[in-house]
Amino acid sequence: MTDNPAFTAVLQETRRLLAFHRALGIDAYPATAALRSFLAAPLPGRAAAPPAARPGLRSPAEPPSEPPPTLTATDTTLDAIRADLGDCRRCGLAAGRGNIVFGSGAAGADLLIVGEWPDQDEDRSGLPFQGEAGNLLDRMLAAIGLGRDRVYLTNIVKCRPEADNAPQPQEIKACQPFLSRQIAVVAPKVICAMGPLASQALLHSREPLSRLRGRFHSFHGIDLMPTFHPAFLIANPELKRATWHDLQLIQKRCEERR
Ligand code: URA
Repeated sequence: MTDNPAFTAVLQETRRLLAFHRALGIDAYPATAALRSFLAAPLPGRAAAPPAARPGLRSPAEPPSEPPPTLTATDTTLDAIRADLGDCRRCGLAAGRGNIVFGSGAAGADLLIVGEWPDQDEDRSGLPFQGEAGNLLDRMLAAIGLGRDRVYLTNIVKCRPEADNAPQPQEIKACQPFLSRQIAVVAPKVICAMGPLASQALLHSREPLSRLRGRFHSFHGIDLMPTFHPAFLIANPELKRATWHDLQLIQKRCEERR
């Protein structure tokens, strides 16, 4: 990172804006003369290294090339799946992780939330959705009358990627069978995929989250609602209203299925 604080601030704000645009589905800009001259303008200070990833500003990852495996209810308990995962070395993330973040919550939950990948707090504790994003998730759940004891939380990838970068397709693929088995055992009425990576990986889609969210999709016959990730909402509170809409649909669908 450059040691010019003003430049760093502009860089961070630009990344924030680009992440916001990406979430809205804007992935190209018109090559106007003004944009070209802005991009060509000399930068103050020495060249900047890529800024560290932080919640809501992670680099995009490609969804895996294969769809998630079908759900087969061969397991009877989550403990059996966790035991099978063991001290997992199935991908390169094992080398840099602290703890495997398998999942937590109610085994028979109506709502299963799939996040993206663990950060530092989760890596340390071994539990999903800690820290600021976890606190916001708790408030989002409370708003629809739920607590952590009534949902099951897990992630697409169970180990923290180095430098909090987005996981690679082979890392997502290594975790996929375990996630599918967790979903089959919990057998939720509704799945909520939080963030673009979770939504695209589960739906095997390249559509931006802005086009996927706001309606239910089918994940092997289970209603799946994609929505914004709480870490992204902290950086982009404008999108809380849209997320509230998604949460209300989830609440209604859980009640209908009860
Ligand atoms: N972000 C996620 O998607 N999951 C976590 O567990 C933590 C942060």
